[in-house]
Amino acid sequence: MFKINENYQKLPGSYLFSTIAKKVTAYTQANPDKDLIRLGIGDVTQPLAPAVIEAMHKAVDEMGKAETFHGYAPDLGYEFLRNAIAEHDYKCRGCDISPDEIFVSDGAKSDSANIQEIFGPDNRIAVCDPVYPVYVDSNVMSGRTGVYDAKSETWSDVIYMPCTMENGFVPEFPKEAPDMIYLCLPNNPTGTTIPNAQLQGWVDYANKVGAVIIYDGAYEAYISEADVAHSIYECEGAKSCAIELKSYSKNAGFTGVRLGYTVVPKELKCNDVSLHGMWARRHGTKFNGAPYIVQRAGEATYSPEGKAQLKEQVAYYMKNAATIKNGLQDAGYTAFGGVNAPYIWLKTPDHMSSWDFFDYLLEKANVVGTPGSGFGPSGEGYFRLTAFGSFENTLAALERIKKL
Ligand code: MLT
Repeated sequence: MFKINENYQKLPGSYLFSTIAKKVTAYTQANPDKDLIRLGIGDVTQPLAPAVIEAMHKAVDEMGKAETFHGYAPDLGYEFLRNAIAEHDYKCRGCDISPDEIFVSDGAKSDSANIQEIFGPDNRIAVCDPVYPVYVDSNVMSGRTGVYDAKSETWSDVIYMPCTMENGFVPEFPKEAPDMIYLCLPNNPTGTTIPNAQLQGWVDYANKVGAVIIYDGAYEAYISEADVAHSIYECEGAKSCAIELKSYSKNAGFTGVRLGYTVVPKELKCNDVSLHGMWARRHGTKFNGAPYIVQRAGEATYSPEGKAQLKEQVAYYMKNAATIKNGLQDAGYTAFGGVNAPYIWLKTPDHMSSWDFFDYLLEKANVVGTPGSGFGPSGEGYFRLTAFGSFENTLAALERIKKL
């Protein structure tokens, strides 16, 4: 008789955003007349930028002619895209990352889930609490997290770094040295970030204790403050301890297009073993490349027109973020984030639990958000709203919330 991967049986419930989607579907089926405003999952609503559309059309036409047709993409991704990434995301910021350290993928969600495969089962992971659930769930699936305690909603072998109002939602170095540290900055879900010097502190710490940092920079385009790093490689010594994940979902609206990349520097080694070589082996074996059309779309985000158009798109969403944050504060809520990230993290009123507030908002305001406790135990009593809706819907949602 075949055996299953028992680790999957340990996972409590379904994936956070699947649970929310199920709840929302049940509500809309029971209340078909209600007009819901969805500020839950961080899914974009604005159309793709004209420069991106133009590049995609051109690539589609190329695929229709034998002389310009493209089959399987090269293992690491097309050079035209990796060169553009190396130039615009790294060289321009003074980071020495070469195109062959960049692995193009179908997005940061898959990479953030898959990257743990190249690490041993005994590594101790450290995560912020609250945290993007993919990091923990993917480690559960591979048996790295120990035993789940339903009461505390924690795993015995995971090191949690609480990020709460008391510490400004900034993780502190754990008491016990971890092997793998997941950092998402600007942070999902709290919307907060840390200044350069503090990020440098994490790099120094990782190099000192021999840990690897898995750095999720999916929200980098939303940084508005000067003293915040756009890449972990802006820090000295990061190439020997950090892997960086990037996404085109949030900066270019590619949630439905799918494109991202991971940087594994060649200097990053465990004794003599190159993690770059391992990820190349994994990538080559398990992934057949993002589509040519999509990689051309990615390249277009770096053209002068593309950059200008995406800047406008980010500004559009950040106007929503300010609208939500100011509106909530006017209505007496305590709200965080929204300055360097498209997420607003609010304290639930009257000590309501995160899920109670979810139901309350859904039923009384017909607004969908994300319960903070879904991101980890320290998220209990908090709630996340996304700035990725349309401006009109964002305004309408705030009007509804203010009337509660
Ligand atoms: C979120 O809402 O946290 C993200 O959009 C989900 C994701 O990127 O997978």
